[in-house]
Amino acid sequence: MLIAAVLVLIVLGSLLFHFLSPWWWTPIASNWGYIDTTLIVTFWITGAVFTAVVLFVAYCLLRFRHQPGRRAAYEPENRRLELVLTVGTAVGVAAMLAPGLVVWAQFVQVPEDAAEVEVVGQQWQWSYRLPGEDGRLGRADTRLITPENPLGISPHDPSGQDDVIVEAADLHLPVDRPVKVVLRSVDVLHDFYVPEFRAKMDMIPGAVTYFWFTPTRTGTFEILCAELCGVGHAFMRGYVVVDTEQDYQAWLGQQTSFASLTGGAARADAAP
Ligand code: CUA
Repeated sequence: MLIAAVLVLIVLGSLLFHFLSPWWWTPIASNWGYIDTTLIVTFWITGAVFTAVVLFVAYCLLRFRHQPGRRAAYEPENRRLELVLTVGTAVGVAAMLAPGLVVWAQFVQVPEDAAEVEVVGQQWQWSYRLPGEDGRLGRADTRLITPENPLGISPHDPSGQDDVIVEAADLHLPVDRPVKVVLRSVDVLHDFYVPEFRAKMDMIPGAVTYFWFTPTRTGTFEILCAELCGVGHAFMRGYVVVDTEQDYQAWLGQQTSFASLTGGAARADAAP
């Protein structure tokens, strides 16, 4: 009796916590409302199953409790029940997985007009690179990293000369313009995560990963590293500032290109 009551209280408490919790999502600031929808679908399905299973156990504890003289019935097979449970579980699991496949396909299908931004992770800071006038990022390789060339941009690739380097500072983006986020890591696994954008992706040393999104409102949004990457993991923070077009251009004008960072030496080297 006591245990049945505790089970019912666990269900009620869980539901109340879910609906009254102050720790809900931050207000969304990107086009990825679909990601919230898939999470809500998962919440509803798992919540309904959790409630049904725990309440059923509480009911059985009461209904079939020990009474002198009562004997248990032995029923090893029940085809109908097995069929219902198998089909029900399959439908529930499919309903949770299918929306994720649709959203994932959209998440990595970058629109043609998206601007490129590179985010580089290293223990324990974020750096950024924007294409210059030519709209293309130059080749980069971790082996080329030096104090003057912190992102390892190839000095022999002309399209890298005008790349804009933003080191250990905020990344600015213009509002309402789709952006392809290209991710690299210099040392270990990191994960670029901005909760308001509902977007995150692992950064893998030796590989380039990417996703895209459109910032839908201006503001300052915190970047978290979402992959345990060493003792400084919790302090690996940064900010994305979403600007109006005018503010963005003003910020962009103050940034340094790769060519000026290396004092033109890279360009001289690049000449055959
Ligand atoms: Cu970088 Cu955790």
